Amino acid sequence: MKIPRRRFLQLAAGTVALPAASRFARAQAYPTRPMTMIVPYAAGGPTDTIARIMAERMRTSLGQIVLVENITGAAGTIGVGRVARAAPDGYTISIGHWGTHVVNGAIYELPYHVFNDFEPVSLIASNPQLIVARKGVPASDLQGLIAWLKANSATATQGTAGHGSASHVSGVYLQSITGVRFQFVPYRGAGPAMQDLVAGQIDFMIDQAANSLPQLRAGTIKGYAVTDKTRLAAAPEIPTVDEAGLPKLHISLWHAIWMPKKTPKEIIAKLNGAIVDALADPAVRKRLADLGQDLPPRDQQNPQALAAYHKQEIDKWWPIIKAANVKGE
Ligand code: MLT
Repeated sequence: MKIPRRRFLQLAAGTVALPAASRFARAQAYPTRPMTMIVPYAAGGPTDTIARIMAERMRTSLGQIVLVENITGAAGTIGVGRVARAAPDGYTISIGHWGTHVVNGAIYELPYHVFNDFEPVSLIASNPQLIVARKGVPASDLQGLIAWLKANSATATQGTAGHGSASHVSGVYLQSITGVRFQFVPYRGAGPAMQDLVAGQIDFMIDQAANSLPQLRAGTIKGYAVTDKTRLAAAPEIPTVDEAGLPKLHISLWHAIWMPKKTPKEIIAKLNGAIVDALADPAVRKRLADLGQDLPPRDQQNPQALAAYHKQEIDKWWPIIKAANVKGE
């Protein structure tokens, strides 16, 4: 039976439109089941802590549980790679930061591109690092710590969140501006490194405020300086690196959320809405502030702002990191 041409074209258009229509319908109905936020570092560390605070509040807006799954190793490249390969259906979310989505792209041969293979959703917060040491280190200020490291360069150790992680890059930077030498001890995240610092197994860390502040408050470690021009509101007693005589060491880590490339815009918008709600929630804001987090202003909590900032950071840091010849594992 010969179908009239006009009717044939209508049917053809319908079949083409069908997948688009169902994709749109799916995006409209999103989310219809729990989603997973992949944390590329060990549980208990700064990224895990921030992820759990956000996931808990995002559940209210999304009406579905946001499960947190830790997939660790190789300075976060394995967990981020899992999201790059995931289906763009809105159910796999990447939380990462300057280390995972800027530094790693400059030092690792990755099976994905840290910018091109992800859809930006929103910035979350940023925090400077803290130079901290185990209780037994006989130094009362930063210059004293540097002198002690100089005197113990053969045995002194810095714990890092992995080879090429932000804490490792900061250590290389500290060595280059002070001439001090020490060993790097890589962990699957800042959380397990902190456990060994508290236990006195390693000597010092250049660590995210979110990870060190609880231990500083508990008096289990010593704090020497914050890698910023201004003191932390959450720890006003700790001097800045400028005040402590190391003006150049300004490093801040910003956390953000991405999804796999080609995730529909409607789904990105829904997830962004849940993040904006969470960052406006006074309880969430207090918990993040207590962890030394600076939250982006409301007009910076959108995919376009993250894309612009991410690109800017890549353009700034890749030449510096490549020149420093830091290599991934
Ligand atoms: C972590 O959660 O362990 C950190 O984000 C790792 C790091 O500081 O690079």
